[in-house]
Amino acid sequence: MDIREKALSYAQENKEKFLDDLKEVLRIPSVSTDSARKDDMLKTAEWLVVKLEALGMENIKIYPTAKHPVVYADWLHAENAPTVLVYGHYDVQPEDPLDLWETPPFEPTQRGDSLHARGASDMKGQVVATLCAVESIVKNDDFPANIKFMIEGEEEIGSPNLVGFMESHAALLSADFCLNPDAGMLGKELPSITYALRGLAYFEIHITGPSHDLHSGLFGGVVRNPANTLMKLVAGMKDDDGKITLPGFYDKVRDVDAEERAELAKLPVDEAFLLAQTGSSALWGEKGYTPVEQVGARPTLDVNGMLSGFTGEGAKTVLPAKAMAKISMRLVPDQTPEAVYEQLVQYMKENAPEGIKWDIKVEHGGNPSISERDGVGVKAMSDAMSTVWGTAPLFKREGGSIPVVGDMQKILGIESVLTGFGLPDDRIHSPNEKQDLPTWYRGIDALIHFFYNLG
Ligand code: BES
Ligand code: ZN
Repeated sequence: MDIREKALSYAQENKEKFLDDLKEVLRIPSVSTDSARKDDMLKTAEWLVVKLEALGMENIKIYPTAKHPVVYADWLHAENAPTVLVYGHYDVQPEDPLDLWETPPFEPTQRGDSLHARGASDMKGQVVATLCAVESIVKNDDFPANIKFMIEGEEEIGSPNLVGFMESHAALLSADFCLNPDAGMLGKELPSITYALRGLAYFEIHITGPSHDLHSGLFGGVVRNPANTLMKLVAGMKDDDGKITLPGFYDKVRDVDAEERAELAKLPVDEAFLLAQTGSSALWGEKGYTPVEQVGARPTLDVNGMLSGFTGEGAKTVLPAKAMAKISMRLVPDQTPEAVYEQLVQYMKENAPEGIKWDIKVEHGGNPSISERDGVGVKAMSDAMSTVWGTAPLFKREGGSIPVVGDMQKILGIESVLTGFGLPDDRIHSPNEKQDLPTWYRGIDALIHFFYNLG
C-alpha cells in the first residue's frame, strides 16, 4: 500500500474518533462577540494547541491580541516542497435566537447525516477536517509539504486585530499560498473552489429627536418621529430597481465582463435553487443582473436590525425619542469600507431633515477580493476534488466575506485556495446550523489528496 493509500485508510478507520474530536470542540461556546465568553475563547485556542502538539507540529504558540488570541504552529521539514499556510477561525457567531434551536447549539447532536451545532459548518468543522487530514498523513509518514497554521478567534467580528498580527509576523507567516477552507461548496455532489468574495462595511445609524419619549397624542404631529425618520432614510438608500442611492456608490464597482457572465450563467444556481434555499416566495434584486451575479458580483445594502420605541406586548401610544438601525453593505472590487462610509455620511447630510440629530457608528469592515485561479494550490485542490467526487470543482463567486483573503494578498503577498465542505443549506449564522457528515468525510479525503498533490 502506498503512503497515500495508508493515509486514506487511516481516515477510514478513524471516522468515529474524528467525529468525537469535532464534537469536543463544538461544545465550547467560542462566541467572539460575547465578552462573557472570553474564557471559552481561550479554552478553544488551548484545545487547538493540544491537537497541534499531537500532530507533531512545532513552534506552537498562542499569540495574544487586543481581543482574542491567534494560534500558530508549523512543521517545515519537507525539502523542495511548497509551504502552505492553513487559515482557520475558531470563533463562531452568537447562537441567538436560542428558542429556535431544535437541540442546544453547544450540544452537538446527530440527526441522520447531519451534525447540528453552532460552528459545525462555519467553521470548526472545516478546521477539524484539516487537522484530521494532517493526522491521517503524519501517523504513517512525514508530511509531504511544509505547513503553517494561523487560526484566529475574531473572524466573525471582522478580524479587528489580524491585520496588525500579520504585519508584525510577516516573516513567520511567509508561505507559497494559503489554504482557506472557510468557503463552502454548492451541493453534495458539487465540490467548489471560490475565487471571489464580497467585502463588508457595517454601521449603526442613531437618530435622536425629542429629549424624551412623548405621548403620541399630545405631541404626535408636531415633531419629527425618529423612528419614522429613520425608516424613511433607510428606505431611500435603495431605489425600486434595487440600486443603492448613496452618492458615488457605484463609482469604483468593477464590472463583470461578458466572458465571466457567461461562465457564471453555467453555475447550477438558478431562481428555483435560491427560492428553495431562502424559503422566500419571490426573488428581488438589482435590475439588469442575474441572481448569481447579484449575490456574487454586485454590492448590496441591508438592514440587519432596528431598535426603537415600544416593542412589548400590546399597544403603547408613544413617540420614541430615538431610533437605531444596524446596516451592512456587501462590497465588490474595488469598493472599500472607508469609501462607503464617506458615501453614507454624505447621503445623511443630503437627506436627513431638520429636527433630528444623527450619528453613524462604524462597526467593522473588510475588503472584497478576487483570487488567482491557476496557482499550484488551486491545481492541487482541483485534482484532489476530481479524485474524490469524480467531477471537477465548480469555480464560484461568493457573496459572504472573508476579509483575510484580501489582507493576505496585500500584507503577505500570497493567494488563497478557497474551499470548504459546508453546504448552502447548512444554516450558518442561523439556528440549527449543521454539517453534512458524508460530505465532511469526503472533505477529509480530499484534503489528504490535496497535501499529497503538493508534495
Ligand atoms: N465562512 C463565512 C463566509 C462564507 C460563507 C464564505 C459561505 C463563503 C461561503 C465567514 O465565517 C463569515 O461569516 N464571514 C462574515 C465576515 C464578517 C463578519 C466580516 C460574513 O460574511 O458575514
Ligand atoms: Zn461565519
